Amino acid sequence: MTETMHQVDKKKRLVVLVSGGGSNLQSFIDACASGQLNAEVSAVVSNNPDAGGLDRAARANIPNLVIDHRNFDCRDNFDKALCELIESFAADLVILAGFMRILTPEFVNHFSGRIMNIHPSLLPAYPGLHTHRRAIEAGDQQAGATVHFVTPELDGGPSIIQAQIAIKPKDSEQTLAARVLKLEHLIYPEAVRWFCEGKLTMQEGIVSMDNKSIPSSGIIFNHSIEPSA
Ligand code: GRF
Repeated sequence: MTETMHQVDKKKRLVVLVSGGGSNLQSFIDACASGQLNAEVSAVVSNNPDAGGLDRAARANIPNLVIDHRNFDCRDNFDKALCELIESFAADLVILAGFMRILTPEFVNHFSGRIMNIHPSLLPAYPGLHTHRRAIEAGDQQAGATVHFVTPELDGGPSIIQAQIAIKPKDSEQTLAARVLKLEHLIYPEAVRWFCEGKLTMQEGIVSMDNKSIPSSGIIFNHSIEPSA
């Protein structure tokens, strides 16, 4: 076996950061267990001691740690401690899965090309909060979610994969969010699988699959059956 083959075959170490319920985390735990991902969730870290994602990690016997931002005097010191903790697990990929803290450029640049996020909108539309409400209020026909590499610009890094669904006339923020979330659970593990297989890279802000750059929207996820709410 060549050195390159060996590196691709090795299980990737994922460190997942959560602040809330952790349904996206669960999709990674399940994808590792089923073999969809040649990876393991090496640790789950939360800034919120009450995050449901910590319980999901505990149930799966995954080390789960709290690093509470309220115990730090500034963002820089919190991010430094978080960075050290993640590195102590030798992370190949850092996965933001509902992690509700803005990260410093130093932190993000440290993990450049090996840190991803999922955002519940069709980026570049609606960075920030309340994405589904804003899409409905704007009268948009489509909503969705985007997996992207993280750069210092909030929700501004280059897209990897995007799932789009139609907004129905009767949709509320909640029904739309529930349908989009089901798609998140499909596209996020898919993006991570490409990364783990060594197909997906980001260099100097350009995302490539199999050494070819991808469209700026990311790859459009092809789902024939829309999930029900
Ligand atoms: C998801 O909608 C994700 O797109 C956003 O935060 C939510 C996290 O949900 N960034 P969960 O904690 O994974 O269930």
